[in-house]
Amino acid sequence: MRVGILTGGGDCPGLNAVIRAIVRKGEVVYDDELIGFLDAWDGVRERRTMHLDVASLRGMLPRGGTLLGTRRGSPYDHADGVAEVAATFREMQLDALIVIGGNGSLSVASKLYDELGLPIIGVPKTIDNDVVGTDMTFGFNTAVQIATDAIDRLHTTAESHDRVMVVEVMGRHSGWIATHAGIAGGATAILIPEQPFDIDAVCRLLRNRHERGRYASIVVVAEGAEPQPGSMAGRDKVFDQFGHVRLGGVAETIAYAIEDRTGFETRMVLLGHIQRGGTPTAFDRVLSTRYGVAAIDAVHAGAWGKMVALRGNELVPVPLSETVGKTRPVDMHLYHEVAEVFFG
Ligand code: F6P
Repeated sequence: MRVGILTGGGDCPGLNAVIRAIVRKGEVVYDDELIGFLDAWDGVRERRTMHLDVASLRGMLPRGGTLLGTRRGSPYDHADGVAEVAATFREMQLDALIVIGGNGSLSVASKLYDELGLPIIGVPKTIDNDVVGTDMTFGFNTAVQIATDAIDRLHTTAESHDRVMVVEVMGRHSGWIATHAGIAGGATAILIPEQPFDIDAVCRLLRNRHERGRYASIVVVAEGAEPQPGSMAGRDKVFDQFGHVRLGGVAETIAYAIEDRTGFETRMVLLGHIQRGGTPTAFDRVLSTRYGVAAIDAVHAGAWGKMVALRGNELVPVPLSETVGKTRPVDMHLYHEVAEVFFG
């Protein structure tokens, strides 16, 4: 079969490992021809491609980023975009397209399948771990590890200076990275988008710690965390060219609020794109490899319109339509029953 592959949305550790696994099994087991589309959907519309084979992917397993390049945006942003995608399938005689992407790219994949019946398979990718239908996306474990390593380092400098450190992590509108890294890093408080925070309650936790002689604290905040209405001044929202709210920076507002209210010296650290860069953890290399193998198997099973998803310890095909327009919130049981036990 002639199988196309694209990577869409924000990059994520493990993308190259997924591509490598698709190509390995596609070429060696199924005798497929593999074609990489460059720069996500733009490459499909404009027929910008690269040939992929086992030899060209040597050394890519531990490599961060994506060798295909990636972009946000969709064929639906262009007047003739959908027709161009259909023409690419026809003229390149594509038998399948594997879309490795997060909520945005998978929604586009679902729509193209529904509207045109294109033979598409999805693979859920994002450090945010917020794709509905799968228990875990690849890249999440790496982001959590990077954030945890940073928190470990911040503990020692916070203790030396008796400071509060507010550490901002990614995750958009879900608190998966914050909750996992906060638990792993021994945070005093974890602020997540799913539960608007009360800055006075956070300050109470910090004062209680001080009264117990604990003068250093780590507050982990998800970039999408919001104060309870009326409890603290919010920030103006900024949007990117695709209309997505551009997050990042809430930690600064929180750090100033903590210092103002408690008098405790406070600093903030924004981890930002460091969480997305570099080599995937061993866990993510294995998960990405499994996702890639499952995706090419799904192609040969003709499971069109499906995404390969982790359910328990199995990778299974689930309809792409299950993911559309939704984001998967953090497990609130984990937040309340485990993380909160260690607050303060
Ligand atoms: O969705 C992944 C993610 O890293 C989010 O956690 C973050 O809000 C966003 O992408 C950042 O996007 P960009 O790379 O466009 O700044």
